[in-house]
Amino acid sequence: MYLGLDLGTSGVKAMLIDDGQAIIGSASAALEVSRPHPGCSEQDPADWVRAAEEAVNGLKAEHPGALAAVRGIGLSGQMHGATLLDQEDAVLRPCILWNDTRSFRQAAALDGDPQFRALTGNIVFPGFTAPKLAWVRENEPEIFARVRWVLLPKDYLRLWLTGEHISEMSDSAGTSWLDTGKRRWSESLLAATHLDERQMPALVEGTERAGTLRAELARGWGMADGVVVAGGAGDNAASACGMGTVGEGQAFVSLGTSGVLFAANATYLPNPESAVHAFCHALPDTWHQMGVILSATDALNWHSGITGKSAADLTAELGETLKAPGPVTFLPYLSGERTPHNDAAIRGVFAGLGHESSRLVLTQAVLEGVAFAIRDSLEALRAAGTRLERVTAIGGGSRSRYWLKSIGTALNLAVDLPADGDFGAAFGAARLGLIATTGADPVATCTAPATAETIMPEVSLVPAYEDAYQRYRRLYPAIKGATM
Ligand code: XUL
Repeated sequence: MYLGLDLGTSGVKAMLIDDGQAIIGSASAALEVSRPHPGCSEQDPADWVRAAEEAVNGLKAEHPGALAAVRGIGLSGQMHGATLLDQEDAVLRPCILWNDTRSFRQAAALDGDPQFRALTGNIVFPGFTAPKLAWVRENEPEIFARVRWVLLPKDYLRLWLTGEHISEMSDSAGTSWLDTGKRRWSESLLAATHLDERQMPALVEGTERAGTLRAELARGWGMADGVVVAGGAGDNAASACGMGTVGEGQAFVSLGTSGVLFAANATYLPNPESAVHAFCHALPDTWHQMGVILSATDALNWHSGITGKSAADLTAELGETLKAPGPVTFLPYLSGERTPHNDAAIRGVFAGLGHESSRLVLTQAVLEGVAFAIRDSLEALRAAGTRLERVTAIGGGSRSRYWLKSIGTALNLAVDLPADGDFGAAFGAARLGLIATTGADPVATCTAPATAETIMPEVSLVPAYEDAYQRYRRLYPAIKGATM
């Protein structure tokens, strides 16, 4: 048996798979995000540990005895968060999360130093880790002075699980300190933010061993001694392992809190100019590209909060027959945007409202706005040399058929829906646990699930969607400078 632990933004999920990769069960525990100021988003690492314990205990309660057979654990987690520890491994301040954009000035300054794009292959986005440390140095110098370790969120869970300070390539590629082509920390990038390699965790590949479960936790969970903890992956690369998105030309679109268009690459293909992310994959000698939008289901949840109707009710109201986009256009920039604009200050907008703009019209515009934002990411990946013929949809938002049809039509690509099952980040993490423990071949292990159904673009609506996408494109420059 293998355990996958995924530390998401809205909760921790624990999943158990057997030696043949069949899912035995899963359990989750919720997490809250604190937003102390506009643009800020934080979590207390102690809550991650509490939620991870709750999720594993939930699994234990549902499947008594099953945990005794666990031989390996894989970790996955929300990327980019800055978890700062002192020399006793005590947490110095709440973790500054991936969708926190307070460090936009520091990010622009680091991005102005050409070595960052040259070595990392990426723009220094405000959501990445290095500018957060620059922000802490400027605004909380007494905390910066005490930083002994900088860990990514899932690597803090590893510290709790194993006592080791270790990270792996896929998550570390999102720090702005990794030489992404060479898969190692860059001393000169660390020095540019007044840090050095001793403050960073040791690096392994996601498929390698990275610690052993502490005896005390193993006893509490009824596990044997010597349970292997794998390197694991950032949540997007972990999802890719779960979905079998590991070979050239394979891609998925993830509709979670954030929206991601992810493509696997056999070589390192950076193109920072298009704001595409070029990161190491969790598998050795493999890389990936992705476009990231900061609010996907987050945009629908915001609309749900305003209207007092659940997200499921809102999408159900739309029915399943795709409509041509109407006059209302929504830009989903509720937390600013990464791909393609790299604009932390921009905020969302509804344009084209009229007396007839009902709740239904706004729901349709919200779903279309996210679909167009993902089309922007597709254009960014194309500019970086990637050609896609189809994408697989994952994440909570993929439960809405209307949304999937809208995305397929906006992208003019076939959207595959995996057969019933849960092939997300926790499953990918469990697979990495299996590989690290048994030495199984990574590509042979990370197979794609069967496709239950393919949603084709609504050909008759492709031109109307194209027109609406062009309107959407024109809105960003129009509102830039006109919003606060
Ligand atoms: C990726 C990113 C998000 C988080 C969400 O660059 O910031 O997808 O990983 O957990």
